Amino acid sequence: MYRTNTCGDLRISDVNKEVTLAGWVQTIRKFGSITFVDLRDRYGITQLLFNEKLTEQLDKNPLGREFVLQVKGTVSERSNKNKNIPTGDIEILVSEFKVLNKSAVPPFTIQDDTDGGDDLRMKYRFLDLRRNTVKKNLELRYAVNRATRNYLHQQGFIDIETPFLIKSTPEGARDFVVPSRMNAGEFYALPQSPQTFKQLLMVSGYDRYYQIVKCFRDEDLRADRQPEFTQIDCEMSFVEQEDILQMFEGLIKYIFKEVKGIGYAEPVARMSWEDAMWNYGNDKPDIRFKMKLANLKVEGKDHFEILNDTDFPVFKNAETVLAISVPGCSDYSRKQTDELTEWVKRPQIGMGGLAFVKVNNDGTLKSSFDKFFTAEQLQSLAHFCNANPGDLILILAGREERTRKAISDLRLYMADKLGFRKANEFKLLWVTDFPLFEYDEEENRWVARHHPFTSPKPEDIEVMINNNPLIENAEKYLEHPYSKIKANAYDMVLNGNEIGGGSIRIFQRDLQEKMFAALGMSKEEAQYKFGFLLGAFEYGAPPHGGLAFGFDRLCAILGGSESIRDFIAFPKNNSGRDVMIDAPATIDQKQLDELQIKLDLE
Ligand code: AMO
Repeated sequence: MYRTNTCGDLRISDVNKEVTLAGWVQTIRKFGSITFVDLRDRYGITQLLFNEKLTEQLDKNPLGREFVLQVKGTVSERSNKNKNIPTGDIEILVSEFKVLNKSAVPPFTIQDDTDGGDDLRMKYRFLDLRRNTVKKNLELRYAVNRATRNYLHQQGFIDIETPFLIKSTPEGARDFVVPSRMNAGEFYALPQSPQTFKQLLMVSGYDRYYQIVKCFRDEDLRADRQPEFTQIDCEMSFVEQEDILQMFEGLIKYIFKEVKGIGYAEPVARMSWEDAMWNYGNDKPDIRFKMKLANLKVEGKDHFEILNDTDFPVFKNAETVLAISVPGCSDYSRKQTDELTEWVKRPQIGMGGLAFVKVNNDGTLKSSFDKFFTAEQLQSLAHFCNANPGDLILILAGREERTRKAISDLRLYMADKLGFRKANEFKLLWVTDFPLFEYDEEENRWVARHHPFTSPKPEDIEVMINNNPLIENAEKYLEHPYSKIKANAYDMVLNGNEIGGGSIRIFQRDLQEKMFAALGMSKEEAQYKFGFLLGAFEYGAPPHGGLAFGFDRLCAILGGSESIRDFIAFPKNNSGRDVMIDAPATIDQKQLDELQIKLDLE
């Protein structure tokens, strides 16, 4: 037997027991003629005491960090107890030991706060995974997985696997493709999600399906995106939107309870997409704090009329003027407001500048555009912005889309600064009534905002069917009736992150064909790409809908982080590389020949 106990097991009640432990050497401390070693495994750390005789042996054959060691010995009460670890009351008086394997000196220390940079940690991910912090993340991930399966099983869902080698039908992200040897010149694609398969399963009658499944998307990476990631993918038949929201609100609350011990009693808040954009500038607002936008000027909806009476060119010439009132910041110094101005001018934010009004605690106002506004005009601006004494009103002006995004980023930036975004506070939100289409300026056509299988709201079906999707004047796409069509689609947002999304689907062939046509697909193209689904819809497709949660994202947020990488055992870096196994990599000429592929690299 390699071990009788783990390194996290033993307590004061075990004193005098004879035990055998095995694990990794965390630290070695020689203390006169005796040696202390901290032995670590997945379960914890136990202190070992090597007596004089054994220390002499160690002197001849020294141990090193990360050596794999087996020790026999007696559990003994420690004189110098360590309150920080569960085994801190005891130590093992070693009677014999065996080095099971040596270790090279690790490139970084295996500790919570390691000295390894990101690149080094990823190259030696197998060592990084020994660290307690990363291990805790993977344990949390497993707990979320277990809770998900329990809940969905209780609700009658069944887990059905769907293929990874499918057909390329890019829409949204790019596909990863896999060449076929047996069908030279042809390619599989890895699924961006099992969307069409789960819909086919509904046609087959499996009315509650789920899968915790890998998805593959060749898109630009960010902290919350990986090229291969995991979804909790679900689909149900004979449901309306409300049934789905209830079912999956239930799932998330169950996960909160099981994994975090949090009873999320209140119903999950709901907000239409329109309201989210208007009040937060964002379709995934963080509602842990308020700081709603004041829409001072929005084309077609001139809001705060005084802007037209003043001569401040920045406001006068802008398409859109938006503001937030930031509490407790009216005493910002020149240096601080300059710093904020620089922040909004960075290319990622892309604004020309920042205007502000300090709402002093004594009620007086001081703005960065004083010479253009009378005292009364400033007062009514502050009133329009719902500002309170002590607030700093931050105002951005520019093109609508960019300004909305910028003010929403600024809102989060200020909230971070002020500590309003606490990692241990959780606020869920359903965002509903998304637009069905988005206009793609480059391709001059409509694209599906969610995906092409999402149904329009019943009242908008006619609008979709009866209008020609073609856009004559690209600049005026907002005047096209398609821009007003709403979808039966919903996202779940947690602390300002989109953790899931789904929709009620189209289940009739003719409406699905209309949808493909609206997206600029010819009949032949639709048949070539999605003929299997259109065909299946002719054989009794039930009404259905579903959603998918981003499993990695959900875990990261529950773990108090916005980076999903630390919750994935073997993640890719920002260039989509696995630096540990060094992938992607070239392949042999023989493999290329078998695939009949010739490379034409510059
Ligand atoms: P969607 O594309 O919205 O929907 O994806 C669902 C959820 O998956 C997460 N997600 C990602 N996580 C990490 N890395 C990525 N690259 C990434 N892309 C998406 C997000 C997102 O909310 N088939 C539909 C679902 C449906 O309609 O049922 C779908 O895939 O948290």
